[in-house]
Amino acid sequence: MKKHPLLTRILHWLTAFLVIGLFFSGWYMVDLDYYSQWYQTLPELHFLGGSFLLGLWLWVLIRLFSAKKVIFSEQHKLIEHLTAKWVKGLFYILVSVMVVTGYLMATADGEVLVLFEVIKLPALSHFSASQVDTMGWIHESVSYATMLLLVLHVAGALKHHFVDKDATLKRMI
Ligand code: HEM
Repeated sequence: MKKHPLLTRILHWLTAFLVIGLFFSGWYMVDLDYYSQWYQTLPELHFLGGSFLLGLWLWVLIRLFSAKKVIFSEQHKLIEHLTAKWVKGLFYILVSVMVVTGYLMATADGEVLVLFEVIKLPALSHFSASQVDTMGWIHESVSYATMLLLVLHVAGALKHHFVDKDATLKRMI
């Protein structure tokens, strides 16, 4: 069995962990009470994790577009190969939308965003309240679509592992 390269595996699990963590932190933080001890910290953690993912994501996209060949295992059927390709393609689009809308919203006032009093994130532009509302709506809707896709992706991986008993999942571990 030929495993995926180590860097691919690290990026895969790191981005998976971040996307899932960001989903739950984002979902939880918007309903926090002003008096909660997490009111200030959780959004800062969300922005920090999100900005780290944004950086990683740029690297992932550069790798994607500069890749010479796609490693494809012959153990898969054509339909599985095509489905996986579509799911992956959609992932790239949805996560890109998430990190871009998130970053633009977090820095929408046009000022440098300071996290934990040390980390400084520059603003790219200034946005009006209605533009931020639209970005917020996109951010929220796309986060649900991303989670739905993730469920399909995980179901596919588990099917390969437990039903087909092939090495698809093991190659990524
Ligand atoms: C895949 C990556 C991300 C996921 C899955 C995610 C998930 C979420 C979710 C579920 C919400 C709550 C939406 C709602 O119910 O209104 C949210 C809100 C938010 N996220 Fe993200 N997020 C991601 C990346 C980012 C990034 C990169 C940033 C900024 C650096 C960011 C900044 C924000 C902001 C500003 C809000 C709105 C908070 C508010 O309404 O007060 N997010 N995110």
